[in-house]
Amino acid sequence: MKRIAIFVSGGGTNLQRIADYFASNREVEIVCVVSNNKDAYANQRAKNLGIPLLLVDKETFNSSKFTARMVSLDIDLIVLAGFLWLIPQSLIEAFPGKIINIHPALLPKYGGKGFYGHHVHEAVVAAHEKESGITIHYVNEKYDSGDIIFQAKVAISRNDSPDDVADKIHVLEQMNFPVVIENLLFEK
Ligand code: GAR
Repeated sequence: MKRIAIFVSGGGTNLQRIADYFASNREVEIVCVVSNNKDAYANQRAKNLGIPLLLVDKETFNSSKFTARMVSLDIDLIVLAGFLWLIPQSLIEAFPGKIINIHPALLPKYGGKGFYGHHVHEAVVAAHEKESGITIHYVNEKYDSGDIIFQAKVAISRNDSPDDVADKIHVLEQMNFPVVIENLLFEK
């Protein structure tokens, strides 16, 4: 049995997709959802899915108690799915090579502090990029700079708005994120 924790801050469409993808797989369990936002719709999704939800404030999240709690859950992979806080060093050290993030752009472009969600797509359109994509990468102590595991690209047309780009990215995320997680869990 592989045990995952999913960290969220927002809508939770990736959380939903990952949960649906593994719903019929008896070898994968989402043991908890960690949310840093009491108003995130992802929290409701976790409740609907019957997954224990852990709401954290910044102090708790950065404490050794939180790291110890994650360790005690015997987690194989921590998945950041639209989670917007930097991960504390103690958690990175407790889970070496076992924390991954999805970013809605082709890193190293459009990454780093402040580049999240819609801000990324607005910057991509403003720069008249001809393509964008997703990056799934290991998490280190800096935003969006760990080793890249997977990227997928999509063409941007001249008339695409940031919302159009967001829709295209959403499709790529839904298609690829669970598969990449599965491959990492089972080292395919
Ligand atoms: C996703 O597009 C994800 O790539 C992005 O936030 C969105 C979360 O959507 N992540 C970042 O921008 C991280 N820097 P969701 O809550 O519906 O899964």
